[in-house]
Amino acid sequence: ENTENPVDSKSIKNLEPKVRHGSESMDCGISLDNSYKMDHPKMGLCIIINNKNFHKSTGMASWSGTHVDAANLRETFMNLKYEVRNKNDLLHEEVMELMRNVSKEDHSKRNSFVCVLLSHGEEEIIFETNGPIDLKKITSFFRGDCCRSLTGKPTFFITQACRGIEPDCGIEMDRGVDDGMACHNIPVEADLLRAYSTDGSWFIQSLCAMLEQCTHKLAFMHILTQVNQKVATEFESFSLDAAFNAKKQIPCIVSMLTKELYFYH
Ligand SMILES: *[C@@H]1O[C@H](CO)[C@@H](O)[C@H](O)[C@H]1NC(C)=O
Repeated sequence: ENTENPVDSKSIKNLEPKVRHGSESMDCGISLDNSYKMDHPKMGLCIIINNKNFHKSTGMASWSGTHVDAANLRETFMNLKYEVRNKNDLLHEEVMELMRNVSKEDHSKRNSFVCVLLSHGEEEIIFETNGPIDLKKITSFFRGDCCRSLTGKPTFFITQACRGIEPDCGIEMDRGVDDGMACHNIPVEADLLRAYSTDGSWFIQSLCAMLEQCTHKLAFMHILTQVNQKVATEFESFSLDAAFNAKKQIPCIVSMLTKELYFYH
């Protein structure tokens, strides 16, 4: 039976001994041109949602400083030739509607999709101005099976959520809103990358700086690794409260990318 892909099994065999000997990168059976095609006419959309003011019922303090991050990101992604759309202070329902609308746009002439969320939150939860939203609900609009014109194209979700105040226990995660998704449970998340950080704005500052310095030479994953290093080594919190002083943070990268991504072609 010839069910195996001979190319795949061969390259895996080639990979092993060379990796063990610590050979130079790319000399390990991986094709050099295994990167996303970035030759569509447009780079794509970059949606930046900046939630700064929160509804009283959430108990969230207004969160200053993120407008600087939002402006910084706008500049950075415009320089990378993205079509940037900034949105401020959206309600839960508005975010879902915006994401649904954007996922229904025709992305066929675009290389990629970027969504940045700046808010209060946790790793998997982002606060909209009137309550929490599960990030999975946002990302699933853009999965290959839901948004066909982005199938096989890299899709990034970058979130910076300040933990700030602990949310009240008993917040209902599922608000029973019909999100209009036909395909909740199919794990088709290839080509999706999430990068997130949960404290302050060091992550976004570093990300913008590294994207400006390195996009002409490094793949996106390498840039994000540099960002992690920068945040881990250069930043430390300062607070008069000893419990919050001299704290380190490290952003997290969750990659389901299947190729290298360079912001040029
Ligand atoms: C979503 O699309 C509908 C229909 O085109 C439009 O009326 C609505 O304003 C859009 N909503 C957002 C948040 O973009």
